Amino acid sequence: MSRDLLPFAAFRSIGAYAPEKILTNFDLEKMIDTSDEWIVKRTGIKERRIAADDEFTSDMGAKAAEIAIERANISRKDIDLVLCATVTPDYFNMPSTACIVSHKLGIRDVQALDISAACSGFVYLLTIAKAFIESGMKKNVLVVGAEKFSSIVDWTDRITCILFGDGAGAAIISATQNKEESFIDVHASADGSYADFLMTPAPGSVNPMSQKTLDEGLNFVQMKGSETFKLAVKTLTRDVKEILAKNNIKPEDIPHFIPHQANYRIIKAVGDALRMRDEQVVLTVHKYGNTSAASIPMAINDLYESGNLKYGELMLLDTFGGGLTWASALLPYVGNKYTHD
Ligand code: UT7
Repeated sequence: MSRDLLPFAAFRSIGAYAPEKILTNFDLEKMIDTSDEWIVKRTGIKERRIAADDEFTSDMGAKAAEIAIERANISRKDIDLVLCATVTPDYFNMPSTACIVSHKLGIRDVQALDISAACSGFVYLLTIAKAFIESGMKKNVLVVGAEKFSSIVDWTDRITCILFGDGAGAAIISATQNKEESFIDVHASADGSYADFLMTPAPGSVNPMSQKTLDEGLNFVQMKGSETFKLAVKTLTRDVKEILAKNNIKPEDIPHFIPHQANYRIIKAVGDALRMRDEQVVLTVHKYGNTSAASIPMAINDLYESGNLKYGELMLLDTFGGGLTWASALLPYVGNKYTHD
């Protein structure tokens, strides 16, 4: 097929789900040696959402997906690929959470797969959706970033347990023949030499589940906080500068900069390096904390539901996470305007 006949990938809709239960910094003060003042000053986080005991990653992913499908004005039958990014799947290691999300949505006989790219997962999925659509293989791809991070957090470790939260976001990426609607650029990369900066050491082939791994808490997330922080600022800034320069776009011309929501100080440092105005930068870290693969789509959804995301407006996505992985995307939002649904 010649390139002239092949479609482009377009970002048609967004949806998100945040669990009801709110865990505030004041709640954490009662659990560990910390304070609201320390957490707000060092991270910008005031509260995070925690899924119910009987609410799983696939439940949150399916709820976000239902909203995204409805807003895209398509039927579930139109979806021909289901992709899910998560590091807190329903099950380690099968079946995939994407299979369970598909089942919960009543989507049958459609390819479904998970990817593991930690906080970069959602933008990684955009690269995959684009490749499938622009090669002509698929037409409507459901992409889901969903995490029950509370299930891998050690609630006695004050370095990590204050940071993370649960939630999900989803989008529909569809084929279009209109080049104006297409993604401008997506970029994803990785460096496994920093694998131990952010990891859950068990269960896996290195540390199969055993009493020893449980006693040593190897099933919980472990993070080298300040090393990760420094690398995050450097990598996010470099990555976003590169994608803007490559596409001849100035930071001041971006209406919506949507960075990964890990820590307000990281977001501020990157925003300042790009000389972004506050109103360009989307922030949700204060109310959701770091929801890993769900962070970017939950932030896009917040922007959408604020009524400030209009057809054709450019979004700049920038993310960084365990692996290490990082990714950025430059794309217009080409869906409906928000009306209270
Ligand atoms: O999503 C993937 C990317 N993830 C990230 O980018 C996260 C990156 N890291 C961070 O956000 C920050 O490193 C943290 C928020 C985790 C930590 O902030 P920090 O400014 O780097 O603090 P620190 O680890 O250097 O610790 C400073 C002090 C230490 O006390 P001393 O040694 O100075 O007496 C810590 O023990 O703060 C102490 N501390 C705390 N105090 C109260 C560490 N955690 C806490 C806490 N409450 N929760």
